[in-house]
Amino acid sequence: MRPLHQNDPEANSTELYELSSERLQLRRMTLADAADVQRLAGDRAIAATTSLIPHPYSDGAAEQWIESQADDLTQGTGAVWSIFLRDDQAFVGAVGLNVDIESNRAELGYWIGVPYWNNGYVTEACQLVLEYAFMKRALHRVVAHHFSSNPTSGRVMEKLGMKREGTLRQHFRKWDDYVDCVYYGILREEYQTRNSEQPESIG
Ligand SMILES: CC(C)(COP(=O)(O)OP(=O)(O)OC[C@H]1O[C@@H](n2cnc3c(N)ncnc32)[C@H](O)[C@@H]1OP(=O)(O)O)[C@@H](O)C(=O)NCCC(=O)NCCS
Repeated sequence: MRPLHQNDPEANSTELYELSSERLQLRRMTLADAADVQRLAGDRAIAATTSLIPHPYSDGAAEQWIESQADDLTQGTGAVWSIFLRDDQAFVGAVGLNVDIESNRAELGYWIGVPYWNNGYVTEACQLVLEYAFMKRALHRVVAHHFSSNPTSGRVMEKLGMKREGTLRQHFRKWDDYVDCVYYGILREEYQTRNSEQPESIG
């Protein structure tokens, strides 16, 4: 597949962002998802282990966040997907990429609503997004980080085939604490090798 560039008209198409797997459908986040975002991301447990999600999650914050995503899409600097269950179309969480165009690299971020944890959903969703990143956008590298107090997210990164690259000590101020951040990364060549070895690696 050819790489997309910032001014490519396809870069803004809704269809391009429709990704699906056995259990999940990912679609570009829209204002129709705002109430679900506020309800699920409003849980303190989601804010506690993420850098940017506020708590409490005020009325209007979801709409503001979703509206802010349009510029990133137009400029090719980011994309956010809503994650839905194929069975009943329940909204279960979100996954996104922040793209550094100059370095052809993206940072992956994600959350899943508490009632849906530990079903493998975020791993399955991120596998779709990695495929998009490497095969549709031809990115060179994808990174992700988690607070050291959040080993669940580290496990997700391992399951995605990302390599642990190091810890930045007391790197982020989260509420009253300076927290360690553990960084993971995967290169396109590693992704391709892994996928040729494990074509059915969802889960
Ligand atoms: C991190 C998060 C996205 C995981 O979503 P999820 O859909 O439950 O993740 P998955 O089910 O795909 O995988 C979770 C893995 O962590 C494992 N796990 C669960 N609790 C764990 C713990 N305390 N320590 C280590 N691993 C743990 C699960 O067993 C599973 O691994 P397995 O498949 O090998 O058994 C979700 O917990 C979340 O949204 N947390 C709050 C927001 C957040 O932290 N986002 C990420 C910021 S870096």
